[in-house]
Amino acid sequence: MNKTCLILASGCAVALSLALLAARSTTRVYASGDAEHQERHADVALRNAAKMITEGRETFRFDTFGDEAFWGDTLNLHDAIKGASLGGVGPGVSPKTALSVGLKVDVGALLSNADGRPETRDDGSLRERGLAALNNVDLDNPATTVALLRANAVVGLTGFFDHSGGLRSIGIQCALCHSTVDDVAAPGIGRRLDGRANRDLKVGAIIALAPNLTPVADLLRVDVPTVRKVLLAWGPGKFDAELFLDGKGFRPDGKSAATLIPPAFGLAGVNLHTWTGWGSVTHWNAFVANLEMHGKGRFFDPRLDNATQFPIAAANGFGDLPHIDPEEDRITKKLPALHFYQLSLPAPTPQPGKDFDPEAAKRGDEVFSGRGGCNGCHVEPLWTEPGWNMHTGQDVCIDSFQADRAPDHRYRTSPLAGLFTHQKGGFYHDGRFQNLGEVINHYDACFNLNLSEQEKKDLMQYLLSL
Ligand code: HEC
Ligand code: HEC
Repeated sequence: MNKTCLILASGCAVALSLALLAARSTTRVYASGDAEHQERHADVALRNAAKMITEGRETFRFDTFGDEAFWGDTLNLHDAIKGASLGGVGPGVSPKTALSVGLKVDVGALLSNADGRPETRDDGSLRERGLAALNNVDLDNPATTVALLRANAVVGLTGFFDHSGGLRSIGIQCALCHSTVDDVAAPGIGRRLDGRANRDLKVGAIIALAPNLTPVADLLRVDVPTVRKVLLAWGPGKFDAELFLDGKGFRPDGKSAATLIPPAFGLAGVNLHTWTGWGSVTHWNAFVANLEMHGKGRFFDPRLDNATQFPIAAANGFGDLPHIDPEEDRITKKLPALHFYQLSLPAPTPQPGKDFDPEAAKRGDEVFSGRGGCNGCHVEPLWTEPGWNMHTGQDVCIDSFQADRAPDHRYRTSPLAGLFTHQKGGFYHDGRFQNLGEVINHYDACFNLNLSEQEKKDLMQYLLSL
């Protein structure tokens, strides 16, 4: 208490109690305001999340980031699609051919609802209406493929049209490799399933169709026939994201250096991404949109300046792409929502009885976290390590060729949720194990587990139940 208060004691007491009262009432006001504030804040967060997810989905499905300047304007891929009869080159790509190289058709985009927007709801008639729409078209004619592109119905590909309706360019999206469809109308024709790995897609064969592969050959410092050989060796469900960095088309054993397309679901909580742990989801999104899809943006990762490990990337300055006008940067501003969208995609849930045997899976759970020692790395329920989720090839008894094509020289512990959706193409980064039985036998030998045949079978059912 100050000196004035000592002299005017009573006055001070009044002042003090008033001050206390005021303090108490502000506390009360503050408390209820805080709850309101928190509620409002929560709404802001929820509204923001919904907005980001909607925006991110749009980007994931439809944004080319301006990459048509590469796939269409430079490689002329659209000319191979429309074929000579429509002013392009060669026989063209009919819908049948498109489906045979693994492209998928969004049945909703073939049909429009009352507002003239693509149909997204299914009242049970989607299959019939989709089939009816397809019945009226010629699936052997490249003109039909062009019409599908005009309807925005080819998953992951966007056509660009001139004034007279001719296909003048083409761009690609994330959905090309990381979406499939549920085949509701026919194989390859159905509703979009974002995040699923398209293990039917022959990416190399599609790129090899491009009439002008000289820019790719020049970048890799080889001739065009060599580029074609590398691309055609990829096979279904594979792509080589490191080719444009190190120019390695083949492994030392002569097999293709391409890796499997992984799913883009179930990634929330997982620290490092890609088979070899290049970085976070958003690091990789910026990487892919700029360096693989060839969109217009900015990318920075000085690890690519290592000319011994990444000769092509270092020679072309991929580790620090030229600064561009923010107005022209079509990637950076899309990264936040794109990141959000991928983290929001849950791993699909397998159905007991259909996708796995529940009784066997229950026993397999014991093997997974018991004798198998799997849970030591694939930690439930992330199915990867919380923290720095990386291992040397030696840790899991494999060679380090692919690990050595990435900055950390390691493999990332694969998250296992939704494994049942990507059995095609095999397992591990290059699909070296054709099925889960082979994966289990590999671990059995690697870790000297001596699992019985029954334990192996149970473990497999457990893996299919994740
Ligand atoms: C041409 C096919 C292709 C396209 C297009 C593509 N990806 Fe990928 N994606 C791959 C392959 C192959 C890998 C594995 C790369 C590796 O590990 O070296 C991958 C890896 C990923 C991963 C890591 C998944 C994990 O398990 O950690 C994410 C996330 C991802 N891509 C998201 C995207 C997004 C977002 C886009 C669009 C900006 C995109 N991808 C475009 C083929 C593609
Ligand atoms: C030392 C850590 C470690 C242990 C222990 C471990 N794994 Fe793995 N697992 C990995 C790594 C790393 C990969 C990725 C390999 C690659 O990319 O080629 C992987 C990949 C896998 C895959 C392939 C996933 C895909 O998408 O292709 C399966 C399935 C798997 N493990 C199951 C198991 C089972 C079952 C056990 C126990 C018997 C087990 N793992 C034990 C680290 C481990």
